[in-house]
Formats: sequence, C-alpha cells, structure tokens
Amino acid sequence: MKNPYYHTSTSVQEYIQHAEGYNGAGLIGHLKTFLSGSSPGQASNTSLLELGSGPGTDWEILSQDYQVTGSDFSAEFLRHLRSKYPQGQFLELDASTLETAEQFDGIYSNKVLHHLKDEELAASVQRQHAVLREGGIICHSFWKGEGSEVFKGLFVNYHSEQALRGFFEPLFEVLLMELYAEFEEGDSLLVIGRRR
Ligand SMILES: C[S@@+](CC[C@H](N)C(=O)[O-])C[C@H]1O[C@@H](n2cnc3c(N)ncnc32)[C@H](O)[C@@H]1O
Repeated sequence: MKNPYYHTSTSVQEYIQHAEGYNGAGLIGHLKTFLSGSSPGQASNTSLLELGSGPGTDWEILSQDYQVTGSDFSAEFLRHLRSKYPQGQFLELDASTLETAEQFDGIYSNKVLHHLKDEELAASVQRQHAVLREGGIICHSFWKGEGSEVFKGLFVNYHSEQALRGFFEPLFEVLLMELYAEFEEGDSLLVIGRRR
C-alpha cells in the first residue's frame, strides 16, 4: 500500500485537524481567471475534477463555481467526504493513473502531486491531457525545492519552476507559474496550464 499515512482513520482524522484553517481559496481565485464558472443567478456547467480532495475544504469552495467531482486514492478520505457531503460526486482515483473514462473542463489539486515520484508525475500529466476536453485547464500546487524525502511514511517530492515546466510544457501551455506562501514565503508553487 502506498503512503500508509492517508489510509487509516486515525491518521485521516489527524490530518483533518492539522489542516483546519487552511484552504486553497487563493489558488482557486487564480483558477477562476482562466476557467469560467458560475455567473450571478446562473449555475455553472463547467466540469472540474479535483485530485486528492482529502478533507474536502477546497471541494466545498470549488463547488460554488463548478460542477466538481472530488476524488482521492484513500478509501478512508472517501468515507469522510461521502459522509460529510452526501450530495457530492466522489471517485476513487489514483492521481498517477487517473483511471476514468469521464472527461472534464478542468483538473485541480492542492498539495497532492508532490506525493508522486517523477515517473508517476509524468504519467499523471499524460493522463490529465487525455481526461481533459480540448482547451481544458489544469491548476496544481507543489512544494518548491529540490530532491525528495520521506516524512511520516509519505514520499514527498520537491520541484523547481524549471522542473515543473519540463513536466507540463510538452502537453500544456503554461499560463501561470507563481511562487506563494503556504507556511513561509516562496515555499510553494502554483502551476496553471491549458491543454495543447
Ligand atoms: C496533503 S493532502 C491534501 C489534501 C487536500 N487537497 C487539501 O488541500 O487539504 C494530500 C491528499 O492527496 C491524497 N493523495 C496522495 N497521493 C495520492 C494519489 N497518488 N492519488 C490520489 N490521491 C492521493 C491523500 O489521500 C490526501 O487526501
């Protein structure tokens, strides 16, 4: 089993507690400038797949503007999501393989793809291209840095702007690459791209 930390109810409850007060509202604000969603008085029919929804905080914010399908590879997080949001759509999906026949207008993740090894990220980018409609938008956050480590049993891969461009640019036009602060200045990178 990959990353056992996300697969037990104790660790999932611990993660949910630690993540309280954090959300991707800033990232979603950037996404909205590139992927149109709902307008006043009109529901959106723009479809968005979220990878690694975890506690569901960003899923909830995204749902205000898009038809969001949440997903996670953890049965424990999916149990939490389905019980907290019984009206929501959630899929069991591994971000590296994205085994779904559904198509989307956008794909979003917040601090998920750093758990993929380089070859898994390359495979994920290929699958994201396949799963997106023509001109579809991706929006992902990463930890900035070099190399990788194992933290609480979790594989964590750090990326530079240049390395991320290497992964995405062959299949996506990079529309925005921006440093931002999760805990401290410049510790994170946001990538937004359009399917070529
Ligand atoms: C750091 S948490 C982030 C959760 C959420 N996006 C947030 O911002 O709070 C990472 C999430 O990604 C999920 N995850 C990790 N590796 C994954 C993979 N290969 N495929 C799908 N989900 C994965 C974990 O189960 C967890 O929910």
